[in-house]
Amino acid sequence: MPQPRAAVILAAGLGTRMKSDLPKCAHSIAGRPMVQWAIDLARQSGADRIVTVYGRKSPQIDALGQAAGTETAMQDPPLGTGHAVRAAEDALKGFDGDVIVLYGDTPLITAGTVSRVFDALEGGAAIAVLGFEPDAPGAYGRLITNESGELERIVEYKDANEAERAVRLVNSGVMAGNAKLMFELLGEVTNDNANKEYYLTDVVGLARARGLKAAAVRGDAGEVLGVNSRADLAEAEACWQARKREAVMAEGATLIAPNTVWFGHDTVVGRDVVIEPNVFFGPGVTLEDNVVVRGFSHLEGCIVRQGAQVGPFVRLRPAADIGANAKVGNFVEVKKSTLGQDAKVSHLSYIGDAEVGAHANIGAGTITCNYDGYNKSRTVIGEGAFIGSNSSLVAPVRIGKGAYTGSGSVVTDDVPDDALALSRSRQSNKEGWASRFRAAMAKRKGKSQ
Ligand code: UD1
Ligand code: MG
Repeated sequence: MPQPRAAVILAAGLGTRMKSDLPKCAHSIAGRPMVQWAIDLARQSGADRIVTVYGRKSPQIDALGQAAGTETAMQDPPLGTGHAVRAAEDALKGFDGDVIVLYGDTPLITAGTVSRVFDALEGGAAIAVLGFEPDAPGAYGRLITNESGELERIVEYKDANEAERAVRLVNSGVMAGNAKLMFELLGEVTNDNANKEYYLTDVVGLARARGLKAAAVRGDAGEVLGVNSRADLAEAEACWQARKREAVMAEGATLIAPNTVWFGHDTVVGRDVVIEPNVFFGPGVTLEDNVVVRGFSHLEGCIVRQGAQVGPFVRLRPAADIGANAKVGNFVEVKKSTLGQDAKVSHLSYIGDAEVGAHANIGAGTITCNYDGYNKSRTVIGEGAFIGSNSSLVAPVRIGKGAYTGSGSVVTDDVPDDALALSRSRQSNKEGWASRFRAAMAKRKGKSQ
């Protein structure tokens, strides 16, 4: 019978190896804090109770845990991973079911892998641990198994002898078991080891001492990488990006040079989208079908609708909404603005706090002057309007449907539909002035020599 599930996320460690003022588990992969990856994984794995464990020195983790809708518990001081799980005991009082422990510094594990850990419990194991075989087992805890492949105990690297260190199967940190049993066993854990810490990993040996069964589930090394340093963080990011690029291509998008495209954790990419080399996506980007993102563009918090083309060298900032078949060209920045269908902003413009109607054409160098140092104001440009090159649109201002603004105009008043707005000085030509000027100058120079 499947049991109710709870999860404990461990994120109270000091993370000293990161050499950072930010707590380790608040560092991000693909723009999302690592602790949140663990929380999402817990949810996807069917945990309806989640407790995030933070430390006195990591209030940011408490805030992230609460923002993600989990309960939080403080571990103070941090005395090891076993001690950290016990910090969640009060929050889970009365919970009757299975509990899974996830480390907040192991962001790449998938829900499919976690479900195999729960399968091991249903298969009769009292405690199940996710292990893997990395190329370099380094300082990971070693999983010691018996002849029949059952897990006997976990020995931490610092406490291991030569023979144990030679074991290639190591601990990912993911462990599941009946909640009541887990907390009972944790009560028996001591800190009699090289680190003087209460190790969660001791639970396995204690379960075996009671004659209970423990299982090691094998995971993929690319998933269970634990982040302890900045170099690990970069490696985890690279693994995640590689996975995302594969997924995006499998769904029918073309990446001309996949290794040069950086996705956000939630980037949505439609079918037949083409992404040219050297593009960066921050969080919250959706590209609908048939969109083209040309090289060297930076997008965050925006939507690019069906068939639109953006870039090269475009910057789309939060709340930019680029309409179907619209075109946003080189060196254009768009923020909190809607571009209607087929609208064009082809060169060198800033469009902020604006609504641009369908089929409007915004000339090169157009600036929406949206900020006076205190307030942001809106610019509304009607359907089919034509904004002359190098126009300054001083918001709040409305340009009517089908209206024109003359090049170089500074538009401070509303423009009626179908009107032409000119706000620049009139041109006057002085016939023959240039030749007279040159002659006078040549004469003056001749005299002075
Ligand atoms: C731990 C495991 C090791 C495993 C490795 C996988 C133990 C004793 N060791 O070692 O077997 O191979 O992870 O990556 O469990 N934490 C707390 N409170 C504490 C200590 C740690 O919340 O008092 C949290 C940390 O924030 C971190 C996680 O637990 O998210 C793991 O701690 P860390 O110090 O990174 O353990 P490792 O040395 O990596
Ligand atoms: Mg670690």
